Amino acid sequence: MLKAKKVRKAIIPAAGLGTRFLPATKASPKEMLPIVDKPTIQYIVEEARKSGIEEILIITGKGKRAIEDHFDAVPELEDNLRAKGKIKMLESVEETTGLDMYFKRQSHPQGLGDAVLTAKTFVGNEPFVVMLGDDLMEDKVPLTKQLVDSFEQTGASTLAVLPVPHEEVSKYGVIDPSEQVEEGLYNVSRFVEKPAVEDTPSDLAIIGRYVLTPEIFEILENQQPGEGNEVQLTDAIDTLNKKQRVFAKVFNGDRYDVGNKFGFLKTNIEYGLKHPETKDELKDYIKDLAKRLD
Ligand code: G1P
Repeated sequence: MLKAKKVRKAIIPAAGLGTRFLPATKASPKEMLPIVDKPTIQYIVEEARKSGIEEILIITGKGKRAIEDHFDAVPELEDNLRAKGKIKMLESVEETTGLDMYFKRQSHPQGLGDAVLTAKTFVGNEPFVVMLGDDLMEDKVPLTKQLVDSFEQTGASTLAVLPVPHEEVSKYGVIDPSEQVEEGLYNVSRFVEKPAVEDTPSDLAIIGRYVLTPEIFEILENQQPGEGNEVQLTDAIDTLNKKQRVFAKVFNGDRYDVGNKFGFLKTNIEYGLKHPETKDELKDYIKDLAKRLD
């Protein structure tokens, strides 16, 4: 078999309006909402870097300028922190700069498939990663790295799936798995965007991490709008799967859904319980609160 090309590039679509977090997202991007002390999008960028990704394109839109600023240097702030000897803070500010980051605005968002298509020139003729920002993933090996490793062995597009409660399938793209080719890696007969609960082919939901071959772009160029009258990446993947195999890999780590209010609060609590500056106080607070709520 030909050795698969290295996966070097990632796309992070971030043009969504964030209506689930209004009014917080009226003037601030939802991707900048913090989990303890870092915006959610920074965790996604960190996952990309830990997975060997060298270049990242963030697809932005109106009102998203703060994302670009976050990944830029702030010399006045850095000088100030350096002069005051606040080295830890300085390091945390510098952590987000010096990456190979690109930004592209999507002026008339028409769905995830359309967002990915705007990255065609950036990607060129190589395999690439798509990472959605509504979920943070934790595992010993980052999920994106697991998909990249799988791609480098098989040369086939691969996306991550996770079993979700049956009544929630209509919030996701869902796969119809056929045979398991190795532990947790499935051949798929169909990819369906947001099926009705009674029609779903399975409870295995697509969770927003994909390695795709560049052939997806010519499919997206001709893709008709689907569910919600938007151009769906899932529909294009279904077509790709008819031309070249697309695998689904079951994720065994922890998924934190930060795309809704309750998930966002839970993630803040769980990350706060791991953060060196907050964990002890937060633990005591939760214990005390639990007593008061009894
Ligand atoms: C998108 C995808 C869907 C996927 C989901 C994961 O949907 O279209 O296939 O399951 O992300 O979060 P959205 O959440 O943008 O409606």
